[in-house]
Amino acid sequence: MIQFNNVSKRFTREGKSFWAAQNINLDIQEGEFITVIGPSGCGKSTVLNMCAGLMKSNGGEIYYRGKLVEKTNTNVGYMTQKDNLLPWRTVKQNVEIGLEIKGVSAKEREIESAKYIEMVGLKGFEKHYPQELSGGMRKRVSLAKILAYHPETLLMDEPFGALDAQLRLILQDKLLQIWKETKKTIIFVTHDLEEAITLGDRVAVFSKRPGTIKLIQDVNIPRPRDTFNVRFTDEFANVHAKLWEALKEEFIEEGNVG
Ligand SMILES: Nc1ncnc2c1ncn2[C@@H]1O[C@H](COP(=O)(O)OP(=O)(O)O)[C@@H](O)[C@H]1O
Ligand SMILES: [Mg+2]
Repeated sequence: MIQFNNVSKRFTREGKSFWAAQNINLDIQEGEFITVIGPSGCGKSTVLNMCAGLMKSNGGEIYYRGKLVEKTNTNVGYMTQKDNLLPWRTVKQNVEIGLEIKGVSAKEREIESAKYIEMVGLKGFEKHYPQELSGGMRKRVSLAKILAYHPETLLMDEPFGALDAQLRLILQDKLLQIWKETKKTIIFVTHDLEEAITLGDRVAVFSKRPGTIKLIQDVNIPRPRDTFNVRFTDEFANVHAKLWEALKEEFIEEGNVG
């Protein structure tokens, strides 16, 4: 469904160029839930930007259903790391943006937005403006917005990072439910190893900059998964140990260890 073929990206800042991502090779199956983890600055968001067609690579290609991604990829719904809610629109109006663009009737929009606003626990906040909400609440509005749009593929960049632990478990659970019901394909970036294992069919570990894929680990925990209890299974511990082994090296600075 999505194929990264030797994808690299170079940036220039203050006259110096550097590789943000290098030779990314990854095949994602239709309906797969893949999670991506790696140290900050290793190019995770850059890879999502390229997949969404918002940024061009400096080498390699990305194919979506066999078609080269060259411009904005309208098959994906992208929940960016920074929320991009419109400040002059209420929660409800923000959630309905995608539906308006699709030409969905006001009545239908009303039903859909109410459904997803309730799902993310924001019932009663429909008429609030983004600046009246906490960071975690704004994240939830972004989630409702992307779900209401019903894209075929979801790109999610640390969507639950700003949420407290309990709410995170609840939203992870909802997301798994939605994924199961709607058979979406999901690429989910997180800095939380446990979240990566809880959600993913596979976990891709990025190395530090320039980001390359260091390891792709299968997670053979049966579904449906209980987002709280899953961590007490043997397979979870097993996968956790392997991923941590790969990941921890990426946090060790050269010259920092004796
Ligand atoms: N538009 C940009 N211009 C210049 N440098 C960028 C740009 N976007 C990201 N970078 C740099 O590229 C590297 C990878 O960034 P990013 O993909 O955001 O990492 P991650 O999401 O893994 O934390 C970082 O060093 C970041 O500062
Ligand atoms: Mg990022």
